[in-house]
Amino acid sequence: MILLPRLALTALVLSAVAASGEHGVPPGEPPLALPGDWRHFVHVRTMVVEEGNPLYAALGGLHEVYANRKALPVLKAGASAYPDGAVLVLDLHQVVRGDHALISGSRRLLAVMVRNSVRYAATGGWGYQAWAGGDPAKPEVTDMRGQCAGCHAQAANRGAVFSRWQD
Ligand code: HEC
Repeated sequence: MILLPRLALTALVLSAVAASGEHGVPPGEPPLALPGDWRHFVHVRTMVVEEGNPLYAALGGLHEVYANRKALPVLKAGASAYPDGAVLVLDLHQVVRGDHALISGSRRLLAVMVRNSVRYAATGGWGYQAWAGGDPAKPEVTDMRGQCAGCHAQAANRGAVFSRWQD
């Protein structure tokens, strides 16, 4: 998570790219949907982005990362060759403080990476989408490269996946 300050700078650059209007969803393709069974994926890692972090405004809160069965062997090996059908989910919640305890509050965002090396060749083989509040009616990504893939490319040696497996 030492990565974050450097990533924040990248995010600023990326928002400029996003403003150019480049569209990352292949024409004629159905929009990327959240897999209905994601809540049964395997939990990978937890992170809390606290106030004071440069990413707090956009991504502050409790980050829980999940992976499906196809993604797990590659993730555990710390390798990069994810097979088509691999899916990773980032579930972002507000953190509620009370009675000397922190608990997860309402959902801020659900973000997903879906592997399809042909369909999403332009963004390194991953399709990206995020939904505000986890609401399927509120997709936020119109430019996969500018909003997501450009930053995730920093983890290219691990297949564009930042989170590391923890036993
Ligand atoms: C500024 C850099 C940056 C941008 C932009 C970014 N991410 Fe991430 N993303 C990260 C980092 C760092 C992590 C790992 C830490 C965490 O959030 O738990 C991560 C984690 C994820 C994960 C869990 C798998 C993994 O790589 O650990 C998914 C899924 C994800 N992001 C989707 C997206 C989507 C969709 C977008 C575009 C809306 C996006 N990300 C934009 C930096 C970024």
